[in-house]
Amino acid sequence: MAYIKSALLEETGYVVLDRYDQSQDPQEWLDIEYVDWKSSGDTRFAPLASKTGTVECGGFWTGDNPRTDKGGLWIESQVAKAPRLVARAKEAGAEIGRCRVIELQPTPYGETLYNLHQDDNNRLNPDGTGWVVRSFFNLTDDKDSFFVLRENRTDPSTETRIALPAGAQLVIDTQRLWHATYHPGTEPRYCLITSWTSGPELDAYMAKLGGVNRVESVPVTDEFIAEGQRIQAEKDAARAAALAARGQQVSAPVMSEA
Ligand SMILES: [Fe+2]
Repeated sequence: MAYIKSALLEETGYVVLDRYDQSQDPQEWLDIEYVDWKSSGDTRFAPLASKTGTVECGGFWTGDNPRTDKGGLWIESQVAKAPRLVARAKEAGAEIGRCRVIELQPTPYGETLYNLHQDDNNRLNPDGTGWVVRSFFNLTDDKDSFFVLRENRTDPSTETRIALPAGAQLVIDTQRLWHATYHPGTEPRYCLITSWTSGPELDAYMAKLGGVNRVESVPVTDEFIAEGQRIQAEKDAARAAALAARGQQVSAPVMSEA
Protein backbone atom coordinates (compact mmCIF):
# COMPACT_ATOMS: atom_id res chain seq x y z
CA MET A 1 0.00 0.00 0.00
CA ALA A 2 1.18 3.50 -0.69
CA TYR A 3 1.38 6.40 1.72
CA ILE A 4 -1.29 9.10 1.57
CA LYS A 5 0.41 12.13 0.04
CA SER A 6 -0.64 15.61 -1.01
CA ALA A 7 -1.04 16.07 -4.76
CA LEU A 8 -0.09 19.74 -4.43
CA LEU A 9 3.17 18.87 -2.66
CA GLU A 10 4.06 15.97 -4.94
CA GLU A 11 5.05 18.05 -7.95
CA THR A 12 7.95 20.04 -6.50
CA GLY A 13 8.14 18.88 -2.87
CA TYR A 14 7.20 22.32 -1.50
CA VAL A 15 4.20 24.61 -1.14
CA VAL A 16 4.27 28.30 -0.27
CA LEU A 17 1.17 29.57 1.53
CA ASP A 18 -0.18 33.11 1.84
CA ARG A 19 1.92 35.27 4.12
CA TYR A 20 0.69 35.57 7.71
CA ASP A 21 0.48 38.93 9.50
CA GLN A 22 3.09 38.16 12.14
CA SER A 23 3.15 41.74 13.46
CA GLN A 24 -0.19 41.29 15.27
CA ASP A 25 1.17 38.54 17.55
CA PRO A 26 3.24 38.73 20.76
CA GLN A 27 6.83 37.46 20.41
CA GLU A 28 6.09 34.26 22.32
CA TRP A 29 9.25 32.62 21.00
CA LEU A 30 11.30 34.82 23.30
CA ASP A 31 9.51 33.47 26.42
CA ILE A 32 9.77 29.69 25.92
CA GLU A 33 12.51 27.32 27.04
CA TYR A 34 15.27 26.30 24.60
CA VAL A 35 17.61 23.32 24.63
CA ASP A 36 20.88 22.95 22.77
CA TRP A 37 20.27 20.65 19.83
CA LYS A 38 22.54 20.90 16.85
CA SER A 39 20.84 20.47 13.53
CA SER A 40 22.15 22.01 10.34
CA GLY A 41 24.16 24.82 11.83
CA ASP A 42 24.37 26.61 15.14
CA THR A 43 20.89 25.96 16.51
CA ARG A 44 18.80 25.60 19.63
CA PHE A 45 15.24 24.27 19.78
CA ALA A 46 12.25 25.07 21.97
CA PRO A 47 9.90 22.09 21.72
CA LEU A 48 6.17 22.77 22.17
CA ALA A 49 5.19 19.16 21.44
CA SER A 50 7.67 16.29 21.74
CA LYS A 51 7.68 12.51 21.83
CA THR A 52 7.54 12.42 25.63
CA GLY A 53 5.71 15.66 26.47
CA THR A 54 8.86 17.00 28.11
CA VAL A 55 11.35 19.61 26.90
CA GLU A 56 13.49 17.35 24.70
CA CYS A 57 14.11 16.90 20.97
CA GLY A 58 14.85 13.19 20.50
CA GLY A 59 13.67 11.12 17.56
CA PHE A 60 10.23 9.59 17.96
CA TRP A 61 11.54 6.14 16.99
CA THR A 62 13.98 5.92 19.91
CA GLY A 63 13.44 4.70 23.49
CA ASP A 64 10.07 3.62 24.89
CA ASN A 65 6.97 3.59 22.72
CA PRO A 66 8.89 4.10 19.46
CA ARG A 67 6.76 5.50 16.65
CA THR A 68 6.89 7.71 13.60
CA ASP A 69 6.74 11.51 13.84
CA LYS A 70 3.04 11.59 14.81
CA GLY A 71 1.21 11.81 18.12
CA GLY A 72 3.36 14.59 19.58
CA LEU A 73 2.57 15.34 23.24
CA TRP A 74 2.08 18.97 24.17
CA ILE A 75 4.42 20.30 26.84
CA GLU A 76 2.29 22.16 29.39
CA SER A 77 4.96 24.61 30.56
CA GLN A 78 5.68 25.64 26.95
CA VAL A 79 2.05 25.76 25.80
CA ALA A 80 1.27 28.13 28.68
CA LYS A 81 3.89 30.56 27.35
CA ALA A 82 3.12 30.22 23.65
CA PRO A 83 -0.63 29.67 23.14
CA ARG A 84 -0.68 31.58 19.85
CA LEU A 85 2.10 29.47 18.31
CA VAL A 86 0.31 26.30 19.41
CA ALA A 87 -2.96 27.55 17.90
CA ARG A 88 -1.21 28.20 14.59
CA ALA A 89 0.29 24.70 14.53
CA LYS A 90 -3.16 23.22 15.21
CA GLU A 91 -4.94 25.41 12.67
CA ALA A 92 -4.27 23.04 9.78
CA GLY A 93 -6.25 20.32 11.55
CA ALA A 94 -3.60 17.77 10.55
CA GLU A 95 -2.09 15.26 12.97
CA ILE A 96 0.96 16.77 14.71
CA GLY A 97 4.22 15.09 15.65
CA ARG A 98 7.04 17.36 16.65
CA CYS A 99 6.25 21.04 17.06
CA ARG A 100 9.02 23.42 18.04
CA VAL A 101 10.66 26.77 17.49
CA ILE A 102 14.14 26.69 16.00
CA GLU A 103 16.68 29.39 16.75
CA LEU A 104 19.35 29.64 14.07
CA GLN A 105 22.46 31.78 14.39
CA PRO A 106 23.74 33.61 11.27
CA THR A 107 24.82 31.15 8.57
CA PRO A 108 26.69 32.05 5.34
CA TYR A 109 25.62 30.50 2.03
CA GLY A 110 28.52 28.02 1.67
CA GLU A 111 27.83 26.69 5.13
CA THR A 112 24.12 26.45 4.27
CA LEU A 113 24.99 24.22 1.32
CA TYR A 114 27.13 22.07 3.59
CA ASN A 115 24.19 21.89 6.03
CA LEU A 116 21.75 20.64 3.37
CA HIS A 117 20.09 17.48 4.71
CA GLN A 118 16.96 15.36 4.48
CA ASP A 119 14.74 14.66 7.50
CA ASP A 120 13.97 11.17 8.73
CA ASN A 121 10.27 11.98 9.16
CA ASN A 122 8.72 8.69 8.18
CA ARG A 123 10.73 6.04 9.94
CA LEU A 124 8.25 3.49 11.41
CA ASN A 125 5.40 5.16 9.52
CA PRO A 126 2.87 2.41 8.73
CA ASP A 127 2.12 1.80 5.04
CA GLY A 128 -1.17 3.23 3.87
CA THR A 129 -1.17 6.10 6.37
CA GLY A 130 -0.34 9.79 5.86
CA TRP A 131 3.18 10.82 4.82
CA VAL A 132 4.78 13.20 7.34
CA VAL A 133 5.81 16.62 6.01
CA ARG A 134 6.78 19.82 7.81
CA SER A 135 5.54 23.37 8.00
CA PHE A 136 7.87 26.32 8.52
CA PHE A 137 6.36 29.57 9.81
CA ASN A 138 8.98 32.30 9.85
CA LEU A 139 8.64 34.40 13.01
CA THR A 140 11.41 36.96 12.71
CA ASP A 141 11.56 39.36 9.77
CA ASP A 142 14.58 37.91 7.97
CA LYS A 143 14.43 40.02 4.84
CA ASP A 144 17.80 38.91 3.43
CA SER A 145 17.49 35.22 4.40
CA PHE A 146 16.13 32.39 2.31
CA PHE A 147 15.32 28.71 2.58
CA VAL A 148 17.43 26.60 0.22
CA LEU A 149 15.78 23.53 -1.31
CA ARG A 150 17.53 21.10 -3.64
CA GLU A 151 16.53 17.87 -5.34
CA ASN A 152 20.22 16.95 -5.44
CA ARG A 153 22.47 18.11 -2.59
CA THR A 154 25.42 19.19 -4.75
CA ASP A 155 23.62 20.33 -7.92
CA PRO A 156 22.77 24.06 -7.92
CA SER A 157 20.56 23.68 -11.01
CA THR A 158 18.02 21.90 -8.77
CA GLU A 159 17.93 24.73 -6.22
CA THR A 160 14.93 26.83 -5.17
CA ARG A 161 15.43 29.80 -2.82
CA ILE A 162 12.39 30.92 -0.83
CA ALA A 163 12.35 34.31 0.91
CA LEU A 164 11.83 34.41 4.69
CA PRO A 165 10.19 37.67 5.77
CA ALA A 166 8.11 37.59 8.97
CA GLY A 167 4.98 35.54 8.33
CA ALA A 168 6.39 33.44 5.46
CA GLN A 169 4.63 30.05 5.56
CA LEU A 170 6.01 26.97 3.81
CA VAL A 171 5.07 23.30 3.75
CA ILE A 172 7.88 21.01 2.64
CA ASP A 173 8.42 17.31 2.09
CA THR A 174 11.68 17.50 4.03
CA GLN A 175 12.38 13.80 3.62
CA ARG A 176 12.45 14.26 -0.14
CA LEU A 177 14.11 17.66 -0.56
CA TRP A 178 17.53 18.62 0.75
CA HIS A 179 17.04 21.76 2.81
CA ALA A 180 18.80 24.34 5.01
CA THR A 181 18.52 28.06 5.71
CA TYR A 182 20.79 30.86 4.53
CA HIS A 183 20.75 33.54 7.19
CA PRO A 184 23.10 36.54 6.97
CA GLY A 185 23.35 39.35 9.50
CA THR A 186 24.04 39.29 13.23
CA GLU A 187 20.73 38.31 14.87
CA PRO A 188 19.29 34.80 15.27
CA ARG A 189 16.34 33.66 13.17
CA TYR A 190 13.28 32.08 14.77
CA CYS A 191 10.89 29.76 12.96
CA LEU A 192 8.01 27.52 14.06
CA ILE A 193 8.43 24.01 12.61
CA THR A 194 5.65 21.43 12.86
CA SER A 195 5.45 17.86 11.59
CA TRP A 196 2.09 17.40 9.88
CA THR A 197 0.51 14.24 8.55
CA SER A 198 -0.65 14.41 4.92
CA GLY A 199 -4.34 13.88 4.28
CA PRO A 200 -7.57 15.72 3.46
CA GLU A 201 -7.15 18.20 6.37
CA LEU A 202 -3.74 19.34 5.12
CA ASP A 203 -4.95 19.51 1.52
CA ALA A 204 -7.91 21.69 2.52
CA TYR A 205 -5.72 23.96 4.64
CA MET A 206 -3.15 24.50 1.89
CA ALA A 207 -5.91 25.26 -0.61
CA LYS A 208 -7.53 27.74 1.78
CA LEU A 209 -4.23 29.55 2.23
CA GLY A 210 -3.58 29.88 -1.50
CA GLY A 211 -0.81 27.27 -1.61
CA VAL A 212 1.40 27.31 -4.72
CA ASN A 213 4.09 24.79 -5.57
CA ARG A 214 6.29 27.00 -7.70
CA VAL A 215 7.79 30.38 -6.80
CA GLU A 216 10.49 32.57 -8.31
CA SER A 217 13.79 31.91 -6.53
CA VAL A 218 15.35 34.81 -4.63
CA PRO A 219 17.87 36.17 -7.16
CA VAL A 220 21.60 35.73 -6.49
CA THR A 221 24.66 36.06 -8.73
CA ASP A 222 26.50 33.16 -10.39
CA GLU A 223 29.55 34.13 -8.33
CA PHE A 224 27.57 33.82 -5.10
CA ILE A 225 26.54 30.27 -6.02
CA ALA A 226 30.01 29.28 -7.27
CA GLU A 227 31.61 30.44 -4.03
CA GLY A 228 28.99 28.50 -2.05
CA GLN A 229 29.65 25.36 -4.10
CA ARG A 230 33.38 25.74 -3.47
CA ILE A 231 32.88 25.97 0.30
CA GLN A 232 30.42 23.05 0.33
CA ALA A 233 32.94 20.87 -1.56
CA GLU A 234 35.78 21.99 0.73
CA LYS A 235 33.77 21.17 3.87
CA ASP A 236 32.58 17.85 2.45
CA ALA A 237 36.21 16.92 1.70
CA ALA A 238 37.31 17.93 5.20
CA ARG A 239 34.57 15.79 6.71
CA ALA A 240 35.52 12.82 4.53
CA ALA A 241 39.19 13.22 5.52
CA ALA A 242 38.28 13.39 9.22
CA LEU A 243 36.20 10.20 8.90
CA ALA A 244 38.95 8.43 6.95
CA ALA A 245 41.48 9.39 9.63
CA ARG A 246 39.28 7.57 12.14
CA GLY A 247 39.13 4.56 9.82
CA GLN A 248 35.49 5.14 8.96
CA GLN A 249 33.86 4.77 5.60
CA VAL A 250 32.90 7.95 3.86
CA SER A 251 29.18 7.58 3.43
CA ALA A 252 26.41 9.79 2.19
CA PRO A 253 25.19 12.20 4.88
CA VAL A 254 22.75 10.50 7.23
CA MET A 255 19.19 11.75 7.48
CA SER A 256 18.58 14.17 10.30
CA GLU A 257 16.92 12.97 13.49
CA ALA A 258 15.85 16.49 14.38
FE1 LIG B 1 15.49 19.37 8.47
